[in-house]
Amino acid sequence: MMSLKISELKKSYFLGTEEIPVLKSLSIEFPLNKMITIMGASGSGKSTFMHILSGVDKADSGKIVLDQIEITSLTEKEITLYRREKIGIIFQFFNLLPYLSSLENVSIPLYLSGLSKILAHKKATESLIAVGLENRIHHKPSELSGGEQQRIAIARAIVNDPKFIFADEPTGNLDSENSEKILTLLKTLQVEKKFSIFLVTHNPEIGRAGDIQVIMKDGNLI
Ligand SMILES: Nc1ncnc2c1ncn2[C@@H]1O[C@H](COP(=O)(O)OP(=O)(O)OP(=O)(O)O)[C@@H](O)[C@H]1O
Ligand SMILES: [Mg+2]
Repeated sequence: MMSLKISELKKSYFLGTEEIPVLKSLSIEFPLNKMITIMGASGSGKSTFMHILSGVDKADSGKIVLDQIEITSLTEKEITLYRREKIGIIFQFFNLLPYLSSLENVSIPLYLSGLSKILAHKKATESLIAVGLENRIHHKPSELSGGEQQRIAIARAIVNDPKFIFADEPTGNLDSENSEKILTLLKTLQVEKKFSIFLVTHNPEIGRAGDIQVIMKDGNLI
């Protein structure tokens, strides 16, 4: 069966010579095509875990096999491709480029994949339609509400048809009404487009929306 299998994952940070262990031999297996919510105290290692899964950071040891790819043994070049083709990332503070329109922001991952401007704009428009913002295509981020900016960021994250979406506190900067809307949108897209979402949240209501709910505690997921 296709799954995400994590075995004995370890990660520490060092302050001078002092070792701060964050992930302590973390082992867990997740089925694919689910919404997985991750909760846990501040500083427990949730973001560290997401960075390692999405290839932004490296573990000290351990193995991650994601959709049959052992990402812990990829070369830098392969990791770049993996991130470009299989992964979408959504941030708490949206991370849109302020001087670009919605259409251009959503087109960026496609340009990086080598698509022509015409094709990129066509795919980006489809993605903006999927998040319900086809009428905001030429707006800049400063001309959009917080909820709309996050929907643009979601359009950007899904534009390459990723297998995995990593969302670290995607509603952390939104009011409860917009949080609810973003959660519903992510869940709908996850089912429609059949990807896995890993969603970190401090909000128990959002945590409860996960098909699978885990808590980061003492360097492990429970
Ligand atoms: N680059 C780094 N260098 C040193 N220590 C770090 C670094 N990044 C994170 N840490 C430490 O590792 C621990 C885990 O951090 P992490 O950001 O993963 O926590 P988190 O669960 O995401 O917390 P929050 O809920 O506040 O976002 C913390 O104690 C943090 O101070
Ligand atoms: Mg964090």
